[in-house]
Amino acid sequence: MKFTLRQLKVFSSVARWSSFTRAAEELFLSQPAVSIQVKQLEEHIGLPLFEQIGKKIHLTQAGKEVQHYSHAAFQQFREMEEVLEAMKGLSGGRLDIAVASTINYFAPRLLAVFSRRYPDIDLTLEVTNHETLMQRLEANEKDIVLMGQPLQKLDLEVVPFMENPLVVIAPPGHPLAEERRIPLERLAEETFLMRESGSGTRLATERFLQEKNIRLRTGMEISRNAAIKQAVRDGMGLAIVSVHTIELEMETGRLLVLDVEGFPIPRKWFIVHRRGKRLSPAARAFRDFVLDENLPELLGTGPYSVKA
Ligand code: PGA
Repeated sequence: MKFTLRQLKVFSSVARWSSFTRAAEELFLSQPAVSIQVKQLEEHIGLPLFEQIGKKIHLTQAGKEVQHYSHAAFQQFREMEEVLEAMKGLSGGRLDIAVASTINYFAPRLLAVFSRRYPDIDLTLEVTNHETLMQRLEANEKDIVLMGQPLQKLDLEVVPFMENPLVVIAPPGHPLAEERRIPLERLAEETFLMRESGSGTRLATERFLQEKNIRLRTGMEISRNAAIKQAVRDGMGLAIVSVHTIELEMETGRLLVLDVEGFPIPRKWFIVHRRGKRLSPAARAFRDFVLDENLPELLGTGPYSVKA
């Protein structure tokens, strides 16, 4: 058969998302480019791999077989890469990491210090939300992931490395700004801007509110921390975010943290990889760096950022 690895990669992405559009986004391709690759693969194989039922696409029986074998093949390739990386040692090593969008507020500083210490390691960084990070871990696509507590039951090695408290933010001059020990129930009278449903911040917030039996009024769902902060500043509502996202705004007084009973919601950041994964020397160096350094001091992060 004459199909290419690239066609298999595109096919796997469409199969994973059950969507040509999302695969195109993930692979930074246009949707027609994705469709062409899948069509060519189908022509080589001589069988349809997807079928459309209603608005959704589904794998055919042949598609399921191709998915099964390409998954195994990509696992093997990654293992080959890991073995070769290990042979290279630190110099010339590569490190492919992914971080939660909320961590992006300090990840560049962290990587800058690491890079100065290990200038020979080539770094690749992906920034995305909790749900996508779980998919990356499941597919064993990253050396290391920095994220909030993984909830799904994958076989993972999960070690905390820093505090990640969630706080209620408001614009300056908000009627609750001067109040102390605001009762939790009082929040039900406000409108809240929420992250998208695949966000770890959103999941943790929902769990906390459910435990306390509080229902919040949601004004808008916004998938970026930066856009949430802007909307809060513009008076569209309050929000619950990680303190790491608001360092700058706290310093400049553009946003403030409300003193609400039960807050901050305690969370931690975790360094995560598949259990049993063969960490390359570069990945081990990064893991030791994250776990051994006093990161709040190194990063100069705010008063909430005490070491786990
Ligand atoms: P997120 O990150 O809200 O950007 O998904 C936090 C997490 O992983 O919990």
